[in-house]
Amino acid sequence: MSLPLTETADYRAFCEERLQNPHPLFARLRREDPVHWCAPMKLWLVTRYNLCFAGLKDERFSSNRTDMYVQALPPDLRAKVQPLLDHVSKWIQLTDEPDHTRLRKLVNLAFTPRMIRRLMPRIEALVDALLDDLPRGEPCDLIANFCQPLPATVICEMLGIPLAERDRFRELVEGIMHFSTAGGPKLKNHAETAQAAMHEVIALFERLVAERRASPRDDLLRALATAEADGERLSNEELYAMCVFVFLAGHETTTNGIASGVMALLRHPQQFAQLKADVDTHVRGTVEEALRWESPVTRAVRKAREEIVLEGRTISPGQLVVFLLGAADRDPAVFPEPDVFDLARTPNKHLAFGYGAHFCLGAVLARMEMEIAFRALVRRVPNLQLATDDLSWKPTMGIRALTKLVVTVG
Ligand code: HEM
Repeated sequence: MSLPLTETADYRAFCEERLQNPHPLFARLRREDPVHWCAPMKLWLVTRYNLCFAGLKDERFSSNRTDMYVQALPPDLRAKVQPLLDHVSKWIQLTDEPDHTRLRKLVNLAFTPRMIRRLMPRIEALVDALLDDLPRGEPCDLIANFCQPLPATVICEMLGIPLAERDRFRELVEGIMHFSTAGGPKLKNHAETAQAAMHEVIALFERLVAERRASPRDDLLRALATAEADGERLSNEELYAMCVFVFLAGHETTTNGIASGVMALLRHPQQFAQLKADVDTHVRGTVEEALRWESPVTRAVRKAREEIVLEGRTISPGQLVVFLLGAADRDPAVFPEPDVFDLARTPNKHLAFGYGAHFCLGAVLARMEMEIAFRALVRRVPNLQLATDDLSWKPTMGIRALTKLVVTVG
């Protein structure tokens, strides 16, 4: 029996049950209440493609929503973690113009297509080395052994983080991420640990930047530290916030893009066979369909700057609006048979990288990593098989992430 939407879309249901398979609920929301007020979470959920597409470039929505963290914390804790709140407010994804335009211009100078293209041979070598090391003949977790270390190594090398310190960096940034993605009542549990992690990670970046100044190296960290446009540079706080955010944005997302793509291929043997038969023709389509089918970043959050009427619903100034990219990307009005995984789908204008001013900065890099990974898997381990059908997803609202992907390599 189906429940009233007010109950199905509540916070607990979202986080604990529905995230194992949110698509039936997404479909219901799209059909019955595409701009849905989720009372327990005190935010709007927008699920139709056309509404998400228009909303993401609508300037009446702001990206600056640090106050959602502020409001969710008790006042004494709020005062204690002010440095953390100041840091998070400088993350590019949470800024509006003119700050956003200035930050984006500076980061674009460092994150050039030439710099990304230069990474290709290195990513190919990393993929090959990881595949060489996969245990043969026994089940292994492809996420821990391949999907996770690949983007993590790429982003660490781009930022010039020494090998010996990478695990510590990742631990610390994950500590900050647990806070930034926690949402609602869980936020307070993570605030102090996240602040301690932030202080430590900034101290590490300060040291690395000082080393670059003493002896310059050609990496993203140096490029960010020296990028200059219209006579402006990133302030120290902005530089560290950019490093932390790029580090954070650069790996878990891509890990899940690769993992969900492999899972989809293994669950659709005919599609996998099609890819194996002609990888050059189908690999780009596979990347795009993987991104659409289980969009790794499931939402883009905004705040209404003014009263906005959407599909007859009135959004009040200051209210949070969650554009559910994962729901938009399965909208049958745009994608015929949206639940079918079809690597030949054209057109496939999914919203997995967002849209508008905040369109993903790392889209070219992520697509390249996914393409290289799928090509190599087909070439090197074509007999890959799922070792279990028992797949579970992390109970996080912002990221669609498998906990494990246990396979046999053959
Ligand atoms: C499959 C992998 C990825 C997916 C699905 C993804 C998805 C997204 C989405 C949906 C947004 C927009 C969020 C919004 O509008 O609020 C975004 C922004 C961003 N992404 Fe990605 N991303 C991926 C990989 C990467 C990588 C590899 C990097 C960097 C190395 C990166 C860096 C960023 C940055 C810096 C932003 C903020 C841009 C801005 O606010 O102007 N992403 N990403």
